[in-house]
Amino acid sequence: METDEVQTQTHDLVLHRGFGLISGIHDPEDVEQIYDLEVRDSDVFVVTYPKSGTIWMQQILLLIEAKGDLTAISQEGNNSDLVPWIELKGNREAFIVAPSPRLRVSHLQYKFMPAALSRRKGKVIYVARNPKDVLVSYFHFHNFANMLETPKDFDDFFEKFMAARVFGGSWFEHVKTWYSHSDDMNMLFITYEEMIQDLPSVVKRISGLLGKDLTEEQLADVVKHSTFKNMKKIPQASYEQVSDDLLNHSQGRFMRKGTIGDWKNHFTVAQSERFDEAFHREMQDFPLSFIWDLR
Ligand code: A3P
Repeated sequence: METDEVQTQTHDLVLHRGFGLISGIHDPEDVEQIYDLEVRDSDVFVVTYPKSGTIWMQQILLLIEAKGDLTAISQEGNNSDLVPWIELKGNREAFIVAPSPRLRVSHLQYKFMPAALSRRKGKVIYVARNPKDVLVSYFHFHNFANMLETPKDFDDFFEKFMAARVFGGSWFEHVKTWYSHSDDMNMLFITYEEMIQDLPSVVKRISGLLGKDLTEEQLADVVKHSTFKNMKKIPQASYEQVSDDLLNHSQGRFMRKGTIGDWKNHFTVAQSERFDEAFHREMQDFPLSFIWDLR
């Protein structure tokens, strides 16, 4: 196994086959074995680059399963107990014996995920978000997530993100490789921006993918309990009760702003131009046009 604990330039990241894992949170041996997992047709994997709407999707999946009834979702713990990150230490083993439907989230690159997904086993929901807003959200997250290096300032983090020296690696690589396999999988490719602009239609598409037949009223309830304003008030959905060892709650929150375009409050003109250049260079052959406005 190619794991390099010391040579990486990234604080607290362990480079494993070119992908930085978070030391203490991920176990490279475990991550390596995810590829061989057996997948059931009822399994659902939400795949995101960090800060693209993962916890939002956890809440939506749980609500769809519960047909919009918030009280039917366990009030104990956090949503990640019910929709865990497959790559976290110990979660691969738990997945093997878990009852269906197994709902999981992941930030992993395509090459680590179960090969069976590309044989149309299970379902994948890939959520992409304007990478400029991802960068800003990730900067704030680094300030309060104890397992990640606290950036010196925004400029410092900007450089790290551009150099892909963060967990998740290169945003461009992540989106491009996953999308390039979309035809091999039962995949729904959506954007955070579509969710902001028309959540009811996204919820409908997801429940269609999952083969759930919800009434209009139940769909409306799913939407109601997954809006930013309402999710913020639900501790297990908003991660307000995660232990202080992991998240320094005095420094920030998962449910921060929940908007489109916050990058405009952070990027300098020069940073924005550099980012646009990188975006156009990296994404010029990408077959989809995104709905977000980079400028
Ligand atoms: P901001 O930091 O821009 O506010 P992830 O779950 O992948 O870590 O992504 C977190 C981002 O999703 C945060 O973005 C958070 O506010 C946003 N988010 C979470 N739930 C949301 C919701 N219901 N509506 C809008 N944005 C949401």
